[in-house]
Amino acid sequence: MQDLEALKESLLAEAAQAADSAALEALRVSALGKKGRVTQLMKTLRGLSPEERREAGQRLNAVKDALTDALEARKASLAEAELEARLARERVDVSLPPRPRPLGRIHPISQTVEELVAIFGEMGFSVAEGPHIEDDFHNFEALNIPPWHPARQDHDTFYLPAGEDGERPVLRTHTSPVQIRHMQEVKPPIRIIVPGRTFRADSDATHSPMFHQVEGLVIDEATHMGHLKGTLIEFCRSFFGVEDLPVRFRPSYFPFTEPSAEVDIGCSREGGQLVIGPGKDWLEILGSGMVHPKVLANCGIDPNKYQGYAFGMGIERIAMLKYGIPDLRTFYESDLRWLRHYGFVPLEAPSLVRGI
Ligand code: PHE
Repeated sequence: MQDLEALKESLLAEAAQAADSAALEALRVSALGKKGRVTQLMKTLRGLSPEERREAGQRLNAVKDALTDALEARKASLAEAELEARLARERVDVSLPPRPRPLGRIHPISQTVEELVAIFGEMGFSVAEGPHIEDDFHNFEALNIPPWHPARQDHDTFYLPAGEDGERPVLRTHTSPVQIRHMQEVKPPIRIIVPGRTFRADSDATHSPMFHQVEGLVIDEATHMGHLKGTLIEFCRSFFGVEDLPVRFRPSYFPFTEPSAEVDIGCSREGGQLVIGPGKDWLEILGSGMVHPKVLANCGIDPNKYQGYAFGMGIERIAMLKYGIPDLRTFYESDLRWLRHYGFVPLEAPSLVRGI
């Protein structure tokens, strides 16, 4: 039993120096396992007198407890060191540049619609929408387009097979039917823009069977031609980002407006290059006019009390002019190279909401 202190010291020293959890386990087995050194000594207690057995038993138990504690302590400190090492090894260098991730582009049509909504939104317009498949009443009749009008002919308009009522639905040929739908539902004052798809049986370098328009409609008791002009001049200058952009109103004709005006913006074509701004030439960009009294009446609005203006333009056309896109057909080809070139990086695109 004299050697017991020495045994304890050497076991504790071994525990403190164990290199890893495997060494700790080996040490535990060699001391406290079935054939372990401490266990063997326990077995010798049987041959002693009761008094000696009690005393020696207590001392042996003390060795056992001290070793168990030492093994636990070493285990904990090994685990901690291991964690420290792992943290050091796996540290993330936050100063490294990120790996580039493929990023989509915003299509020029979407970008242009966003700009239109931002500009007219500033002026108090809200956005309205309507169906692509229309009936004759909303697309033509209520807009005062007579039955013999060339736009109604089969080679200009996509007609769908006749329904039970014998009427042929049409793919809307302009966004103007949404004017009608809105006036039928909402009492003036009205101040809306309607961006959306339109369809015409036409296909060449400057016409596509599907294209986009934006319609504008303002109806109240006091709006006059001066408001139409002011709003559209402001819009043209803001959209093209040219403060002194000349804007010209040219008398024109639409069945649904009276008087009607075509709107041109100034440009220069000197040296074969088109530049939007003050110059010798003009570019037509939109149609407009004071809403025809018959159209108001067709929608149940009293033309003696209410009046207002409407306008409509092609979204592809103004996008092509603003962003220098030469061919209309490329808008719908889904060519990723084209989109990477003409598309807009999300959050970086010029936005009048976020500021250019
Ligand atoms: N709907 C006309 C078109 O498609 C454009 C327009 C709208 C003209 C509103 C005047 C007023 O050509």
